[in-house]
Amino acid sequence: MGECSPVQPSGVEINLQTGEMLEPDRIVVRRASDMRGYYADADALDQLIRERGDPIHYEVFEKPVPETPGNLMYCISKLHPGLVGDEFFMTKGHYHQIRETAELYLCLRGQGLMLMKTEKGECVAEAMARGRLVYVPPSWAHRSVNTGAEPLVSFCVYPAEAGHNYGDIEDQGFPKRVLRVKGEPQLV
Ligand code: F6R
Ligand code: ZN
Repeated sequence: MGECSPVQPSGVEINLQTGEMLEPDRIVVRRASDMRGYYADADALDQLIRERGDPIHYEVFEKPVPETPGNLMYCISKLHPGLVGDEFFMTKGHYHQIRETAELYLCLRGQGLMLMKTEKGECVAEAMARGRLVYVPPSWAHRSVNTGAEPLVSFCVYPAEAGHNYGDIEDQGFPKRVLRVKGEPQLV
């Protein structure tokens, strides 16, 4: 007989049309004011905070599990649509603290891009749209960008011990930004 796991089996309901997680145990909320330093146009961000009352940028809905090897953390990430100047709303982006951990993002709603980069300077963008699954390999920082008019909603799953590391992103960002050019999203 093996040892009993301290974690009990559980279930949760996710509306696959809207991406809503019913009765999450934890909700992480990031507002526009939490994004200072991340967008190219700091004045446009200040203006948005002043004029629109510091709107929610993105939310993460979770049923947390112990952050120990063997468990899988999962969540719904909901990134609202909008622009800061000409730059589409995005998440901060992070590496995993434990670099050897990957992540799956299954997009349930919306349109966007997953920007990924390595510390060596590689940068790759994968399209996100309902039904697309993006694989984030170990060691790749990842940032979602919403290029559409509705929320960009994804189901994410990753090793529970992974952790978040904002590393060089706060200072250097990603090698590419996603801007609206002549009405269309463009990587620049
Ligand atoms: C977890 C993960 C997502 C993000 C969420 C918020 O590893 O990738 O759950 O944590 O989308 O993004 P950040 O942490 O970059 O603000
Ligand atoms: Zn992650």
